[in-house]
Amino acid sequence: MTSSSVSTVHKIEDYSPCLWFTPKVHLRFDLDPHLTVVRADYEVKSNGTKISPLFLNGENLEFLSLRVNGRVVDPSEYKITDLGLELLEPPGEVFQLTVENRICPNQNTSLEGLYQSGSMLCTQNEPEGFRKIVYSIDRPDNMMQFTVTIAGDPSYFPVMLSNGNLKEEHPPVNGKRVVVWEDPYPKPTYLFALVAGELIETKDEFVTKSGRIVTLKIFVEKGNEEKVSFAFESLKQAMKWDEDTFGLEYDLDLFMIVAVEDFNMGAMENKGLNLFNAKLVLADKKSATDETFESIMAVIGHEYFHNWTGNRVTLRNWFNLTLKEGLTVFRDQWFTEDMTDPAVKRIKDILFLKEHQFPEDQGPMAHPIIPKSYTEMNNFYTVTVYEKGAEVIRLVSQILGREVFKKGLQDYLTRFDGQGVTFEEFISSMERAYGKPIPYIRNWYHRSGTPILNVKESFDQKNQEWVYQLKDYTDTNLPLVFVNSYAAFDSNGKLITENKRIQEGTLDEIRIKTPKDSESKPIVSFFRGMSSPVLLKSEMTKEEIRILAEHEPDGVSRFFSFQNLIFLWMSESLKDENKKENLTEVLEIIQSSFKKDWDKTYFSFYLTFPSLMQFCENLQFFDYKQVESLRKFAIQTISETFTKEFQFLYEENRKTIPKQSKDEIGKRRLKNTALYYLLHHPKKSFESLAISQQRDAKHMSEEIFALRSLIEIGSKEKDQAISLFYDHWKQDALVLDVWFAAQVATGENHISDLERLEKHTKFNLKNPNKVRSLYFSFARNPLSFHEQEGKGYVVIAERIKQLNGINPQIAAGLTKLFSQSSKQIGNLPRIAKRELEGIQNLPQISKDLGEVVGKIIKSL
Ligand code: ARG
Ligand code: ZN
Repeated sequence: MTSSSVSTVHKIEDYSPCLWFTPKVHLRFDLDPHLTVVRADYEVKSNGTKISPLFLNGENLEFLSLRVNGRVVDPSEYKITDLGLELLEPPGEVFQLTVENRICPNQNTSLEGLYQSGSMLCTQNEPEGFRKIVYSIDRPDNMMQFTVTIAGDPSYFPVMLSNGNLKEEHPPVNGKRVVVWEDPYPKPTYLFALVAGELIETKDEFVTKSGRIVTLKIFVEKGNEEKVSFAFESLKQAMKWDEDTFGLEYDLDLFMIVAVEDFNMGAMENKGLNLFNAKLVLADKKSATDETFESIMAVIGHEYFHNWTGNRVTLRNWFNLTLKEGLTVFRDQWFTEDMTDPAVKRIKDILFLKEHQFPEDQGPMAHPIIPKSYTEMNNFYTVTVYEKGAEVIRLVSQILGREVFKKGLQDYLTRFDGQGVTFEEFISSMERAYGKPIPYIRNWYHRSGTPILNVKESFDQKNQEWVYQLKDYTDTNLPLVFVNSYAAFDSNGKLITENKRIQEGTLDEIRIKTPKDSESKPIVSFFRGMSSPVLLKSEMTKEEIRILAEHEPDGVSRFFSFQNLIFLWMSESLKDENKKENLTEVLEIIQSSFKKDWDKTYFSFYLTFPSLMQFCENLQFFDYKQVESLRKFAIQTISETFTKEFQFLYEENRKTIPKQSKDEIGKRRLKNTALYYLLHHPKKSFESLAISQQRDAKHMSEEIFALRSLIEIGSKEKDQAISLFYDHWKQDALVLDVWFAAQVATGENHISDLERLEKHTKFNLKNPNKVRSLYFSFARNPLSFHEQEGKGYVVIAERIKQLNGINPQIAAGLTKLFSQSSKQIGNLPRIAKRELEGIQNLPQISKDLGEVVGKIIKSL
């Protein structure tokens, strides 16, 4: 069954505190994949106002019984609907309520609540999955202390886990074993977890700064026990980092992670029992790329950091999701910066923000990081709430300075420990640490859209100063605060001055003295390292941008200046095809970069030519075919001009050791970048390099890159490469995910590939990783999805309809990829509208899908 068809809009102004709380609960599960019986014993307490009916959320549950203070309640005293159970006249301010119901975990394909994945049963409750397990006050401001009894057949469920500490373990009686878990920390329902199945336990430990030993366990399905060591290392690094950076120590004696095959998202921070999408835990050098390794570190860190920011201090309501997510993303970014290379990490994060968050913020799904309303909360786990939310926290940290920020965070975590709060409590702690108000910071939480700032230059004769006026002309009703780190250079690229300025509100003026000996005006690099998440419109000339691309000492801004130079070339070439030959500046910059002594990973990023999506998003120009042909022209020209250099780079980095060290990661990336250019040589063929790289690969980063490149250039060897890879990896589901993706992620005309691959025995519509690999990859490839006749739209709309009945969250996520349709050329917006209306007319449309489809249709 899919979720219910009742759609209520939840508005932020309608929030009101709980009338009833359940401070203590004892849960009992009698596990069976077909029919699990769940009983909840609640201690119920009123909030002190007059006694009103008690409502318990409950969806897709089979009600069994209700007792109040031990007495069976007569059916006339309660009401049961699709949304829950209402006890009409509660007996007093405090009482005991016992409710029992049944659920079918193996019929639950929505992967929310209690469901089956492989041989295990597991849960996903954030945000509102708990109500699919048992009747409950399922909201984050109702915190309770959980005791959990699990009974199950030990041959199916040798392992049975829940949050906190194992309290009791009983030997099997009548084919059932019983365990009892107890979590000493009160928590909302969304942080509850249960896992049971035939799992292999792997173990490690961590000694906290105060000398306590914490047992660490990772549970995996059989056969994966060799793939956990990197996850353990990352976890210990994260635990240490949170102690060193914020003084935060882990608060239980046991920390568990379970790797789950069928998972709707990345991972989930349930107290003491994190659940992870298997692809973000399991790794070895043969089967995981360097990017995967880094994601594992970041996500393990992220979920671990939630233990304080999210769990100990939690949310009052879902509108404030960014309070835990933006903050925790910021913490995991900072962690990864410290563990790897800060400039490279920042470049990756900015690229991600620009490619995903900026478009979301300018499209039909735009919302403030505190949304004003939602129908289905699952639709709001967005790049805006997460990544833009993290940028706003970064702003705060820059205004305060990182040391004062740490004080503010400590104040926040101490003062509000054990409570559900809003972003206001967070900001107030920060302001206390800062010693004064942070002007306009709150508006960042309520304003949607990417702020666009205009730079106007003028010369002040009298003072011999250049004057720069920065104006936010996007929304002056909600003025913002910006951090503007800037530097000025002379025409030789020599630094004149640098500064960090806080712009309060819509307008700021920056003055820079002209150096006495120089006539020319300074070249200014604003918002270095993206010190505020804004789009900047300036009148810089190509030559000025070129100077920054070469001389900016800040690696991040240097990188983005070079990108801007490339975008400028593209935009000129789009206006006048003859201009495409004029790649001089770009080639000069590349030429000079070969002489620099940069970190290898940084260098490889610098050399990587922007993707088709990056071009189109930056230029807001959506004739993909035209952009792609110019893009390929530039890549070929670069390849032809620097053949020797790329050959040298390739050879120099050819031999690598399959280790996750900074140097080896850099070598692999640089080698791949060189290979990519060589493969695009207009006259010579370097395909044999890619073929042997795939064959001899010691690390997945080498193997998959070779395969992807052969596919992208349409090599005649590509089919053979695809089957070679398959034969090598057909037993490894996670590697097959990348294999599926590689075949549709670049280039045109993939409809028949998609139709062939979805019939493949290893494809499975119920597994989100497979759906993401095939359908999402196809729909993120603009050349196939936004194909002129709209066939890509038809294909994906059909798949969305199928997914609606299986997994509404995944269906809604796939639908969001239509968000850019209104900007497309020709008939595409019209076709998108037709297809989305077809989805909207589904008789059983889920509220997830209904909300998304409705918003996108309005934009068409
Ligand atoms: N809290 C989890 C995390 O950020 C993600 C949960 C996503 N939930 C969802 N329904 N999409 O780490
Ligand atoms: Zn999170």
